[in-house]
Amino acid sequence: ADFRDRLDAILLAHVGREGPLLPILHDIQAEWGFVPEAAEPVIAAALGLTRAEVHGVVSFYHDFRDHPSGKHVLRLCRAEACQSMGADALADQVRAALGLDWHETTPDGRLTLEPVFCLGLCACAPSAQMGDRLVGRATLDKVRKLVEEARA
Ligand code: FES
Repeated sequence: ADFRDRLDAILLAHVGREGPLLPILHDIQAEWGFVPEAAEPVIAAALGLTRAEVHGVVSFYHDFRDHPSGKHVLRLCRAEACQSMGADALADQVRAALGLDWHETTPDGRLTLEPVFCLGLCACAPSAQMGDRLVGRATLDKVRKLVEEARA
């Protein structure tokens, strides 16, 4: 009931406005940290959409998650400036070292790996982010340190 009350409050704040779906999804993610599957049919009914349409939007946008992330989220920049400075190779190394693919979380629930599209650190690409910490000229070693610190 609590879930439903909070969801209804979010829907109420947006239904009737123009283009309500994205703001609703943003609010839901802010509330729960992801968009729970159980919310999709409720949103669909409120907006006169099909559940598949709502789900399509959730999965299309990188911003939305359909399951909770780990305690810590490591983000690696995949945008142009970073790519030109070896972000792809770094991402391969990091994924292999952590045993995680994009959007995956370690079995202990402590760490999730996410791509991000520009962290505003293009001048010192490639860049990475862990929580509030931004790291430029990222290397596998630097990323490993970030992970160790976050897990400590
Ligand atoms: Fe990576 Fe801007 S492109 S920080």
